[in-house]
Amino acid sequence: MKKIKLGMIGGGIGAFIGDAHRRASRICNDYELVGGVFDADYERSKQFAVQEGIDLSRCYESVETLIKAELELPSDIRMEVVAIVTPNALHYPFARNLLNNGFHLVCEKPMTMTVEEALDLERIVAETRLTFALTHTYTGYPMVRQMRDMIAQGVLGTIQRIDAQYYQGWINSIIHGTESRITGVWRLDPEHAGASSCMGDIGVHAFNLIEYTTGLEVNEVLSDLNPVKDDIKLDLDGTVMVRFGKNLKGVIRASQVCGGEENNLTIAVYGSKASFKWAQENPNYLYMLSDSEPARIFKPAHGYNDKFAEMSHTMPSGHPEGIYEALANIYRGTAKSIRGEAFIPGEFPTVHDGVRGMKFIHAVVESNRMGNIWVKVV
Ligand SMILES: NC(=O)c1ccc[n+]([C@@H]2O[C@H](COP(=O)([O-])OP(=O)(O)OC[C@H]3O[C@@H](n4cnc5c(N)ncnc54)[C@H](O)[C@@H]3O)[C@@H](O)[C@H]2O)c1
Repeated sequence: MKKIKLGMIGGGIGAFIGDAHRRASRICNDYELVGGVFDADYERSKQFAVQEGIDLSRCYESVETLIKAELELPSDIRMEVVAIVTPNALHYPFARNLLNNGFHLVCEKPMTMTVEEALDLERIVAETRLTFALTHTYTGYPMVRQMRDMIAQGVLGTIQRIDAQYYQGWINSIIHGTESRITGVWRLDPEHAGASSCMGDIGVHAFNLIEYTTGLEVNEVLSDLNPVKDDIKLDLDGTVMVRFGKNLKGVIRASQVCGGEENNLTIAVYGSKASFKWAQENPNYLYMLSDSEPARIFKPAHGYNDKFAEMSHTMPSGHPEGIYEALANIYRGTAKSIRGEAFIPGEFPTVHDGVRGMKFIHAVVESNRMGNIWVKVV
């Protein structure tokens, strides 16, 4: 099948997530990277293009020049979809401009800086009917998809409590001056990161995982955020109590300063009949607990799984797949949407998930600012 022509904004030399996007797009085998604006610095961007074997004539100085030049190319070679993998503040201006010029998008989270910007993108996507995929990467894991399907089938009974946690430790060494990093530290700067560091960067993944797996919406939050040091402008750690309705509550805990923690994202959904537990660092095991039976472990590549989980891995059982394959599953679903093929809802997070994420981040920041009060996620 003809490859979809992919462009990329960001993701140049030394960048973190752009490399994962390129690998994911190759794993799913639907795309061909044809050009982009890989770095804020044009010389470094060109250096990267040479390194990757990308035609220099399609390595552009800015998003504006990319749009103009690509639109002049014949439709069979023109870029069709663009992945935005820059720091947060650039997502909205680039996304709006690209959508308004007819490009499908894959965009990193948090989707925008404000709720208003997020709603604007949702409006443009609805009007243009272009594909917009938001890369909440963890939704691409087979066992997360299995959990979503089984919860929808009601196997847990009435859901009574939901806990999600996302603990990392990498900022610890930076704020205490024991390690310097070139990339990623923009996360501490409100101009580049937005209203939150920890909740915007990783708390929002935990929030998304809750809404993705349960199909429920968080209605209200009460947060207690911690910048950890007096000279830090944004939260690096926090606890958020969440309410779904009168009889369903839970908690989201997130931190970037838990020394020794790596990428410890977990979710637990407790029901009246049974419960699920899943952990990102061991993603091929989905634990189902019950008071009346021994614990069960679901694993990928077995006939007992639902179709959605089974189509989300490629190797036979016992051959672990991980983060690249999870992201590739999102790229796969996005490709189906771009080609006008049928896809399963949930195959890629949408612009609406981006709006929900921005509402969550802003409600959490507002709750903390107002002295730790309940704030609606609307
Ligand atoms: N989905 C996930 O699991 C996940 C994981 C990590 C990061 N992210 C998100 O991905 C985004 C990028 O994060 P990162 O850690 O890769 O950052 P990074 O600092 O490692 O890379 C950012 C890249 O953007 C480029 N850039 C900056 N300004 C630019 C401009 N004006 N034009 C073109 N390129 C420009 C930089 O040169 C760099 O190549 C963030 O929004 C972050 O929240 C998501």
